[in-house]
Amino acid sequence: MTRLTRSPRVAADFIRRGAVVAFPTETVYGLGADVFQPDAVARIFEAKGRPADNPLIAHIASPAQVELLARRVTPAAEKFMEAFFPGPLTLVLPRQPSVPSVVTAGLDTVGIRMPRHPLAQAFLAACDTPVAAPSANVSGRPSPTTWQAVLTDLEGRIPCILQGGATEVGLESTVVDCSESTPVVLRSGAISLEALQAVMPQTVLTAEQQGPARSPGMRYKHYAPQARVHLADRAEAVPQATRQAWIGLSEPPRGRFARARVCSSLEMYAHLLYAFFRECDRAGMETIWCERVPDRGLGRALMDRIRRAAQG
Ligand code: TXA
Ligand code: MG
Repeated sequence: MTRLTRSPRVAADFIRRGAVVAFPTETVYGLGADVFQPDAVARIFEAKGRPADNPLIAHIASPAQVELLARRVTPAAEKFMEAFFPGPLTLVLPRQPSVPSVVTAGLDTVGIRMPRHPLAQAFLAACDTPVAAPSANVSGRPSPTTWQAVLTDLEGRIPCILQGGATEVGLESTVVDCSESTPVVLRSGAISLEALQAVMPQTVLTAEQQGPARSPGMRYKHYAPQARVHLADRAEAVPQATRQAWIGLSEPPRGRFARARVCSSLEMYAHLLYAFFRECDRAGMETIWCERVPDRGLGRALMDRIRRAAQG
């Protein structure tokens, strides 16, 4: 039985008792457990079918909780926290020895994020402990941007979902390794490289994040719907076929696609992408064509997720 609630206090009681709870953030829904209860954290991996070697992000209610998790806050991390906390940014820092290794997958670092979603903030404050949480999807599926998507993936496998609306950003947080002197972007997100560089000009992308030419990595089987995903420069160039869908900024030719979503901005494109992937699977689409956008700002995060889905 999965209990649905709109009360952050009710959801926080599950966390304190060592259970897992799905909760909304401004990026995607997370599946949380108390960082300091290793058995509870282990249940996250079970429920999702997540490989144990993939570390979790610790979510905090206030900057004061950073010291429970990080043994050192580097100058870069200080600056990013000041500029972007709370928000869709995860900082990787050297971990405190007290952080259980099930959270960090045995790494000597820990990812830390303070969400800005009001319901997430109320929930995390009521938990009174940092909450380890990956996205609340079955491993390999697109991250959930609604509580209904969480229910589809995890009904009966988790005891509680904290219900909020559709998540604002729609893509997972930017992950920046701040454990060394040069900040390195491990995953692109709504806090763009350009925004990070405005605060710390030496910030770089990892090879993984450098765009079309990067080498195929083992983490590609991520974010993928059942339908095949392709990038397209123009809807007009997509060959006629049945059961194909379109999402992008431009209006496709009439009749070319069984289903189409035209987004009015990059923000809207990011907001709708995963929900559209799931909708296309339900509707039995075989192929989803995604319009290419320039690899900068939020566009870099969008292209990253779509390329990964295309590899899936
Ligand atoms: O927006 C988000 O980040 C969402 C919401 C729920 O906060 N969470 C999320 O978690 O997307 P997840 O587990 O699906 O993705 C976390 C990413 C993974 O790529 C993981 O490898 C990386 O962050 N990560 C976490 N801790 C790390 C660490 N110590 N070092 C390097 N990468 C880390
Ligand atoms: Mg995930």
